[in-house]
Amino acid sequence: MITSKELRQKYLEFFKSKGHAIILSASLIPENDPTVLFTTAGMHPLVPYLLGEKHPAGNRLANAQKCVRTGDIDEVGDRSHLTFFEMLGNWSLGDYFKKEAILWSWEFLTSPEWLGLNVKKLAVSVFKGDADASRDEEAAEIWKSVGMPAEKIVYLPKKNNWWGPAGITGPCGPDTEIFYWQGEDEYLSAESNPETDEENWVEIWNNVFMQYNKQIDGTNIPLSQKNVDTGMGLERAVMVLNGFADVYQTDGFWPLIQKLEELSGREYVENFETTKSMRVIADHLRAAVMIIGDDKGVAPGNVDQGYVARRIIRRAVRHGRNLGIKENFCAIIAEETIKIFSEIYHEVEKNKDFILTEIAKEESKFRNTIENGIKNFESRINNLKSGEKFSGKEAFDLYQSYGFPLEMTIEMAKEKGAEVDVAIFNEEMKKHQDLSRAGAEQKFKGGLADHSEISTKYHTATHLLHSALRRVLGEHIAQKGSNITAERLRFDFSHPQKMTDEEKQKVEDLVNEAIKKDYSVSFSEMTVTEAKAQNAIGLFEDKYGTKVKVYTVGDPREEFFSKEICGGPHVERTGILGKFKILKEEASGAGVRRIKAALE
Ligand code: ALA
Repeated sequence: MITSKELRQKYLEFFKSKGHAIILSASLIPENDPTVLFTTAGMHPLVPYLLGEKHPAGNRLANAQKCVRTGDIDEVGDRSHLTFFEMLGNWSLGDYFKKEAILWSWEFLTSPEWLGLNVKKLAVSVFKGDADASRDEEAAEIWKSVGMPAEKIVYLPKKNNWWGPAGITGPCGPDTEIFYWQGEDEYLSAESNPETDEENWVEIWNNVFMQYNKQIDGTNIPLSQKNVDTGMGLERAVMVLNGFADVYQTDGFWPLIQKLEELSGREYVENFETTKSMRVIADHLRAAVMIIGDDKGVAPGNVDQGYVARRIIRRAVRHGRNLGIKENFCAIIAEETIKIFSEIYHEVEKNKDFILTEIAKEESKFRNTIENGIKNFESRINNLKSGEKFSGKEAFDLYQSYGFPLEMTIEMAKEKGAEVDVAIFNEEMKKHQDLSRAGAEQKFKGGLADHSEISTKYHTATHLLHSALRRVLGEHIAQKGSNITAERLRFDFSHPQKMTDEEKQKVEDLVNEAIKKDYSVSFSEMTVTEAKAQNAIGLFEDKYGTKVKVYTVGDPREEFFSKEICGGPHVERTGILGKFKILKEEASGAGVRRIKAALE
């Protein structure tokens, strides 16, 4: 039996003995990357260093990184997909490469001093080769040199054996993955390998040889330094190392499952439904605790990370209802989760009150409406003719009146064999947003003849400011908030320190120059992927539609001043904005600055 704590400790100790500095997990909320909501892999916060910047702790690093992957949320409930998980990783930043990476993973896995795994139960895959990079015979040879039999080395294409970039562009490269046999001993034959028997060979470790930098046009150019990026999913590794059938039986989950059994009076293994509901609750509340309890943690809400927190807590509440739990239970499970993590991630202990209060609040809020919402849902779904879609208008009504996230309605409809008309839901959502925008505009005071014209001007000025800030302070600037009145604009953005007078002057000058140039402002509609490929800035999370509007100040194909995802509206040319003036620059929370500016 090996626990998560033991595996984490052993892994870090091992890499420390190989000259690695142990660094802390970065925040779950990415620092400078508006393109994603969460840190999704250990390499994610290290991208600047993989690209060549010097890391203060050196060029050999190792850690356990908190990760959230919302892409897998619908799979949660099976035996191993998780939203929150920990990734053990070691990195070479232009230091060691394939040989050391492979030899060390082998030593750690098989040496009796470390994990002492049965070498017969290990197999590997290496990159098969294509136009971007050649077949990785080098890695295969190193594997053979440690005694890996040729039949246990499989060559697989990019789909399997290439990792990265984390976004659209950035560091990436071929990888070699290590698999552990999870089937019955008697069925492990010499011929069995991860290609022919995917079911029984479970990937436990990925060694990525990051030597390319993917460009916007899709080409991979060599990086100035060769890096190693590795990842071992802690929960899954503990599962296979102990021979458990699912991750929920490991020490990172089992106390939560036991608590759920106690609260519901049901058994984890009672039937398919109880197993699934307990898994969903355990996974989702663990993730909610880590998202809310992060040092940059967010409370449940309607946008971005807050929306994810809301969605997973509400889904947990619904599954608690399925288990017949009558009382509020989320904070109880959250408290158990905090016990599991407090020793390693101190922030959850520090932020305990905030976590428990926010989770309890969210549960109570939803419990007030869930029963009526479900009744409403059932009466509607029971009236559907076979093959008919669940109306998007009704899904919107469930969202609006009862707080049912769209994804929950989709899941509930699916359980009854129906689909939701998402396109109509999206239309309703947009209509509603336009209405509230119109409502907000009516609130502008100041006796001006046309309030919406003023707000439109400030809206465009905000884009100019955002772009000017990135030019003067750097690309780490990301929008954290924006607000417009008839008198001024307010813009919050990530930046670690106070701006100097000189910086403020430069920003002001840049914006005024852009106004003088009388750029045209235009928009086109495109997918988020296209927007990213065109280097558009802005909030990329696209919850309600597949297409987004991208506004360009300047010529979209030639020289442009700003390109940003946004719903609009904007002025037609910048010339009418007048003169831009920064009124104030101040702190607005940790690592966030606030600018107030006016047009004169
Ligand atoms: N970045 C690699 C992964 O996430 C190690 O699998």
